[in-house]
Amino acid sequence: MTETFYESVGGRETFRGIVARFYEGVADDDVLRPMYPEMDLEPAADRLAMFLEQYWGGPTTYSEQRGHPRLRMRHAPYHVNPDARDRWLAHMKVAVQEAGLAPLHEAQLWDYLERAAHSLINTFEDTP
Ligand code: HEM
Repeated sequence: MTETFYESVGGRETFRGIVARFYEGVADDDVLRPMYPEMDLEPAADRLAMFLEQYWGGPTTYSEQRGHPRLRMRHAPYHVNPDARDRWLAHMKVAVQEAGLAPLHEAQLWDYLERAAHSLINTFEDTP
């Protein structure tokens, strides 16, 4: 039996911890915070955590609740320019580093997040 990445890094607790720390950064971010449609960031945090858990081999609750991820399509309503991407990644960097994963796991997770964030850029305009 081989362990999934999800299991190797500590499962649900690890992903929930990273996402909670990430949203603390978002809550204080003048550019990102206004993008989130809901007053409460908790539901958005839950969606991101479910997505990451599923991506890395954990429970498939994300797709059961939300269907196919279609991340580019789901980000289309938001102004994702290089500044937004850099801010997103900066909050995520703090969150991932604080999780204290083994260096190879951290590198693997980070590589994915960086590539995913680059791929979601949908504008080079400064303002919406
Ligand atoms: C590049 C900068 C990014 C920005 C500015 C951004 C912004 C947003 C915003 C405003 C939402 C809507 C919040 C909600 O109601 O769920 C959202 C949703 C979401 N984002 Fe991002 N995001 C970024 C990158 C990423 C990346 C890299 C991933 C995955 C690795 C990701 C995964 C998701 C997921 C799974 C959702 C919920 C989709 C759904 O089921 O509705 N985002 N994002």
